[in-house]
Amino acid sequence: MGTASSQARGSSMTIALIVCGMLLVILGGLWLLPPMLYGAPWVPTRLERARRALRLASLRPGECLYDLGAGDGRVLFLAAREFGARAIGVEISPLHCLLARVRARSEGLEDRVTIRWGNYLRAEIGAADVVFLYLTAASLKRLRPYLLQRLRPGTRVVTISADFEGWQPVAWDREELIFLYRMPPAHGGWQALLSEENETGFG
Ligand SMILES: C[S@@+](CC[C@H](N)C(=O)[O-])C[C@H]1O[C@@H](n2cnc3c(N)ncnc32)[C@H](O)[C@@H]1O
Repeated sequence: MGTASSQARGSSMTIALIVCGMLLVILGGLWLLPPMLYGAPWVPTRLERARRALRLASLRPGECLYDLGAGDGRVLFLAAREFGARAIGVEISPLHCLLARVRARSEGLEDRVTIRWGNYLRAEIGAADVVFLYLTAASLKRLRPYLLQRLRPGTRVVTISADFEGWQPVAWDREELIFLYRMPPAHGGWQALLSEENETGFG
């Protein structure tokens, strides 16, 4: 009798362990796979670097910032808290979206921080004053025509690490590798900005 009940306990433990293991695998998959499948893995921006990017873009109170590929929403919270902006993130990973939504609610920022679950290539972004991008060069290439089509003239686009080939930035932060563009961008590249700086002795 005693042996039968300890055997039953043993098998329920095994089942519980298997269920926990499966849950972990599913959660891990949901965390890692969507960003990887869409070509830009989740690598969060250092807060100081994001702050410098938003300053370079001169983000002002009341303006609307979009972070395309928002990850855990850290840039949105920064934009809302320190710059007084309305911040909208689009993110493909459901778990990152969930975390960011929970944080927005717990910090009482739901009226200023919105996280939309989905592909940024299908998102409506025409209301943006500033677009923040921390993506791979290949992802920026895919985004280009879409930004040209949907953003209003004058919208500022700020990118971290990767630049838009053939678009001339209006300003940059060389130390942190941050590029600022104004729509529609002039043809050129960061090299054009560099030679302008060299000619004027600036930078
Ligand atoms: C390098 S992380 C940047 C996260 C955040 N912007 C930051 O600076 O901390 C890129 C993010 O883009 C998301 N992503 C990649 N492709 C996407 C797509 N097509 N639509 C929406 N999000 C995407 C990934 O899931 C990942 O969280």
